[in-house]
Amino acid sequence: MNAKKTLNIAVIGGDGTGPEVAAEGVKVLKAAAQLEGFSVDFQDFDFGGNRYLRTGEILPTGAVEELRKFDAIFLGAVGHPDVPPGVLEKGLLLELRFQLDQYINLRPVKLYPGVETPLVGKGPQDIDFVVVRENTEDLYCGVGGFLKKHTPDEVATQTAIYTRKGCERCIRWAFEFTQKRNNPKGKKLTLVAKTNVLTFGHDLWWRAFQAVAKDYPDVQADYNHVDACCMWMVKNPEYYDVIVTTNMFGDIITDLGGIIQGGMGVAAGGNINPDPGGVSMYEPMGGSAPKYTGKNVINPIAAISAAAMLLEHSGQAQAGQRVMKAIQSVTGSKMKSQAAGKMGYSTTQVGDLVCEAL
Ligand code: IPM
Ligand code: MN
Repeated sequence: MNAKKTLNIAVIGGDGTGPEVAAEGVKVLKAAAQLEGFSVDFQDFDFGGNRYLRTGEILPTGAVEELRKFDAIFLGAVGHPDVPPGVLEKGLLLELRFQLDQYINLRPVKLYPGVETPLVGKGPQDIDFVVVRENTEDLYCGVGGFLKKHTPDEVATQTAIYTRKGCERCIRWAFEFTQKRNNPKGKKLTLVAKTNVLTFGHDLWWRAFQAVAKDYPDVQADYNHVDACCMWMVKNPEYYDVIVTTNMFGDIITDLGGIIQGGMGVAAGGNINPDPGGVSMYEPMGGSAPKYTGKNVINPIAAISAAAMLLEHSGQAQAGQRVMKAIQSVTGSKMKSQAAGKMGYSTTQVGDLVCEAL
């Protein structure tokens, strides 16, 4: 996307602490835009659990069309204690990912300076890789059903769908991304799958991966089974540069990635539609953390990292890098911990510190 003078951003604060962390992201976006000489315009949308409990609708008619008009979407969190699990996740988050065809879920796993990792003896130079998760297929399609429900003979199916187009576009994007990332330790893209058991779906992924790899001879095309990947992520995270993987496996390994980079208060993700005119959505991974709501204690670093990704992928790469640097100076020299209530600062103070560090 080319740099535009104004970035129009839809903000869905969502549930629990979502609006609090989103507000800090917005604060940093405003400050970064001012310093870099462009403007940002925000429009709030009240989608989430409270609206659903009030009106019975999650995404009102026309909402997706409305959101399509923005340059990007910034999401706080979804998940409400009074709404059954899955309702908001499916009706809001997955619905937007699917309808806006955000086929890349980009999850950097980067240990910032000063942040504690549970991996003994590992530091920021060891934990710095990116997971490219396919975001529109696999078990997430919602294909399946029940037979003889609520009887002793009940049958349930949940089908994983993989298409050549779906895996190939994700794999190609991941190769391009690896090339651009240009890791000085060597450009390597690791396909993470389970070809020894999922001999249909992941065979398709494997063949697409081999075919696309031919167009990127400068990138080492590597492969790990997903179970081994979990082991390596803990034992030798420095092995990885970029991982490309399926939706379900990507969901699982990115929580592992989240904890080795210091926890859910730090990890961020981008749901990206890289096609011309595509609208992407950026979010912290932390969830709505209902018990901390309204206390001004939740960590906004993940949301601010999501804001940095938004800039990076919306034609304002320089501003994005500026925010990333500011985050690292705050984690490295100010914050005591990344855990809610233990940061040494409030949510809003951490946002202010990042703005000062810009
Ligand atoms: C994530 C989340 C979602 C997912 C849930 C909330 C539906 O875990 O973004 O990783 O499974 O993709
Ligand atoms: Mn997840």
